[in-house]
Amino acid sequence: MPGQINYLRMSITDRCNLRCFYCTPWGGWEKLPCQEILRYEELLRLAGVAAKAGIKKIRVTGGEPLVRRDALGFIRSLGQVPGIEEVCLTTNGVNLAELAPELYATGLRHLNLSLDSLNRDRYREFTGFDHFGDVMAGIERAAVLGFGPIKINCVVLKDLNDDELVDFALLTREHPFQVRFIEFMPTVDEARWRRHFLPMAEIRRRLAGLGPLETVTTAATAGPARTFRIPGFRGELGFISSVSDHHCPTCNRLRLTAAGRLRPCLFAASELDLKGPLRRGASDEALAELFREAIRLKGCVSPAPSLASQPSSPSMVSIGG
Ligand code: 5AD
Ligand code: SF4
Repeated sequence: MPGQINYLRMSITDRCNLRCFYCTPWGGWEKLPCQEILRYEELLRLAGVAAKAGIKKIRVTGGEPLVRRDALGFIRSLGQVPGIEEVCLTTNGVNLAELAPELYATGLRHLNLSLDSLNRDRYREFTGFDHFGDVMAGIERAAVLGFGPIKINCVVLKDLNDDELVDFALLTREHPFQVRFIEFMPTVDEARWRRHFLPMAEIRRRLAGLGPLETVTTAATAGPARTFRIPGFRGELGFISSVSDHHCPTCNRLRLTAAGRLRPCLFAASELDLKGPLRRGASDEALAELFREAIRLKGCVSPAPSLASQPSSPSMVSIGG
């Protein structure tokens, strides 16, 4: 049985201003027509209902959430939903430098940034755009404004960015960031995934020269990262072994796709449609029951099956990571 399910990842758009090769399918993806994407009022109602089913923390994701019109107004409203204790945002940071002050004013403090290279040319190759400088400026601005925790998510890719692991870790020496190394999940064709997958044990081995890692204990609503600190460093390191050590019993999350489907597990194809009942006038209680049903559907699928092996599975860009 899974533990307490208290964390909902809410994708508010399937649009993105980057094209990370492992996330957005080749040749673009079938974007949802606007009317298929849940409206903000609908999302807010579902947040209230989710709170009744035990959700305490909501992470706003995308695509890139900050490209949706009035995302900040929505984030502010989400923070006012009774029962929701924590609102967080995952962003690629492209618009962060510009939006950080207004984002800070919404009350949100927890930021996760996706960044897979500290090298400008490489960043452009990975994402398709020359926005490395914008992202770094965004991180700096957010830090100065007082956002925290600021987590920097790096998907580790063998032969593509694994020579940067130490540089990423060293960001935590002077800055109070949490740098998180994420195992590459099989969202691309299998040959390509195998070529670039680096297991967490190897990632950690590459960091061994930095010194001993002290364990940091995390809150009950924390995600799947195992968290450590290098003595004397201001920040922390997180390790997310989604593939080599996928641990269902501690998974505490549900995912709501931009199209209004509730996904009990990233790796399982089953989804519950919330948009249909919502738009047909379902009561709060009926909707809360769908959340409870999704929670019941969370079971153990270990070992984690491949995402790429599910042709019907939507791409990462519409699930939101
Ligand atoms: N493997 C690991 N992480 C992924 N993400 C997207 N696709 C993958 C993948 N194949 C992550 C992004 C971002 C979050 C939203 O999901 O890097 O941090
Ligand atoms: Fe956009 Fe994030 Fe996907 Fe990159 S990983 S394409 S930034 S949604």
